Amino acid sequence: MALASKTTSLFLLLLAVWCFFITPSNSATDSFVFGGCSQLKYTSGSPYESNVNSILTSLVNSAMYTSYSNFTLPGASNQDTVYGLFQCRGNLNSGDCGRCVAKAVSQLGTLCLDSTGGALQLEGCFVKYDNTTFLGVEDKTVVVKKCGPSISSYSDALGRRDAVLGYLGASDGTYKPFRVSGSGDVQGVAQCVGDLSPSECQDCLSEAIGRLKTDCGAAKWGDMYLAKCYARYSEGGDHPHGQKGEQ
Ligand SMILES: *[C@@H]1O[C@H](CO)[C@@H](O)[C@H](O)[C@H]1NC(C)=O
Ligand SMILES: *[C@@H]1O[C@H](CO)[C@@H](O)[C@H](O)[C@H]1NC(C)=O
Repeated sequence: MALASKTTSLFLLLLAVWCFFITPSNSATDSFVFGGCSQLKYTSGSPYESNVNSILTSLVNSAMYTSYSNFTLPGASNQDTVYGLFQCRGNLNSGDCGRCVAKAVSQLGTLCLDSTGGALQLEGCFVKYDNTTFLGVEDKTVVVKKCGPSISSYSDALGRRDAVLGYLGASDGTYKPFRVSGSGDVQGVAQCVGDLSPSECQDCLSEAIGRLKTDCGAAKWGDMYLAKCYARYSEGGDHPHGQKGEQ
């Protein structure tokens, strides 16, 4: 737990630094959302380094065929074992998923040079690797929270926003890791990372959606990224990144 929050604060710190270097992208899929690295560095040329490279390569290759995958590469000792996963946004085709993960992995290589662990979220995909196991572990740490300006004319827009969030958070008991909804000009999108069980996914999304409501109040748009799921909504084209949940 202590490690998790330490890692997260480091993520946010790095995010602040990294944002200055991001060049705007035309593609909604490739836009940078957040990234961060563990403080620990591995030795260049170590077996751990080649494990990290193998796992990142496996992620890129796998993303051409599926929208979620996880890998574990055992090392000579426990601390050399590398775990990795990627999750593409549910509405990406395999070509776009593959390109997104390739881009995320290449940015991770720059951002997290020689780090034992790292995570990066682009609009279209999430990639993470580490030597501590995080696979199948629900983590509701807030990684990115952004709220737009307040809605000017309350009643209608806020009602539509609440309807969109209500729909995103609704559970009929089936496993729905990717959700989109819309009401009028308000759109919403939510997704879990594929390693969560159906009930963990629902729990994570409920937390993200609840936080959007409480923390963003009557904002025109909001982004709530937790470590293993996110929920976002926007009104019309008012989000700085444009339309959500669409290609
Ligand atoms: C991860 O690697 C670092 C650096 O080699 C090591 O100090 C740490 O104990 C490892 N963590 C685990 C869970 O093995
Ligand atoms: C990891 O991937 C394997 C298949 O490669 C799958 O059986 C397993 O359920 C996955 N684990 C998690 C936590 O997603």
